[in-house]
Amino acid sequence: MQVVEAKGARIPLIGLGTWDLRGRTCVRIVEQALRLGYRHIDTAEMYDNEREVGEGLRNSSVPRQDVFVVTKIWPSHFAPRELMRAAKESLVRLRLSEVDLLLLHWPNPQIPLSETVGALCKVKEAGQARHIGVSNFTVALIEEAVKLSTEPLVCNQFEIHPFLDQSKVIAASRAHGMAVVAYSPIARGRAKNSDLLARIGKAHGKTAAQVSLRFLVQQQIAVIPRTSKLERLEENFSIFDFELTANEMAEIAALSGRDGRIVDWSYSGSPRWD
Ligand SMILES: NC(=O)c1ccc[n+]([C@@H]2O[C@H](COP(=O)([O-])OP(=O)(O)OC[C@H]3O[C@@H](n4cnc5c(N)ncnc54)[C@H](OP(=O)(O)O)[C@@H]3O)[C@@H](O)[C@H]2O)c1
Repeated sequence: MQVVEAKGARIPLIGLGTWDLRGRTCVRIVEQALRLGYRHIDTAEMYDNEREVGEGLRNSSVPRQDVFVVTKIWPSHFAPRELMRAAKESLVRLRLSEVDLLLLHWPNPQIPLSETVGALCKVKEAGQARHIGVSNFTVALIEEAVKLSTEPLVCNQFEIHPFLDQSKVIAASRAHGMAVVAYSPIARGRAKNSDLLARIGKAHGKTAAQVSLRFLVQQQIAVIPRTSKLERLEENFSIFDFELTANEMAEIAALSGRDGRIVDWSYSGSPRWD
């Protein structure tokens, strides 16, 4: 399994996104993904599926220590006591004693970041998270969080795919030694409608979605595509047996623009901070 390393964390380059997967579908997809070889599962308290993710993990019979489990604290729980309680409740739902990575899901300007980051560090010190990090943090917020944190922040997870230029946030995350994790890495399915990605894929015997994922992992960006379909689990995982040429990488990079964002920032209830 290829990984991206950051401050002692080894994050598998391919993971399974689980947003919107519920009930038995979620259990089955997590279980099957692990059987196929996935070793990184992404959930969040907000996804309302941590119980099912934990069940899928146990059903798979893959040893717990072989799987990198990520969950996230929702911004309405960023006051220190609430954050610590929310982290514990996630562990209870997952039926785990610790997660591998605990993230702040979105920025929350209503609560001082110093308090939130302090509480996140305490969760790590208490042994409930092996690593901590952030999600949807802007360049300015990354700087601020790193200054405030007494523990290493190992990752920033945010929207990245071929249609969105995220070069500034990627550079800022890396400048602080953080791993970059791409959510919506196939642009919620939009990748499959791209003629360019399809054409490049055809040259390698791959689909447009696989090219979208390969474009990211080839830049050492971890990807967490989500699917509710068993057959697509394998498709999304099979991205390590081909390589895009420098020319193809440049052609794909040229698809990106500043208005390619899919996920609405107002969704978190917090305005953007940049
Ligand atoms: N930190 C955050 O704020 C945040 C925000 C958004 C997402 N995330 C995480 O990132 C994960 C992935 O992002 P996402 O769910 O937004 O989008 P995504 O993974 O880019 O796209 C998922 C969509 O693409 C379809 N799909 C999956 N594999 C495909 C393939 N091989 N070919 C064609 N279509 C395919 C899926 O449909 P089917 O189910 O029909 O396959 C689904 O509709 C989430 O599940 C979540 O874990 C985090």
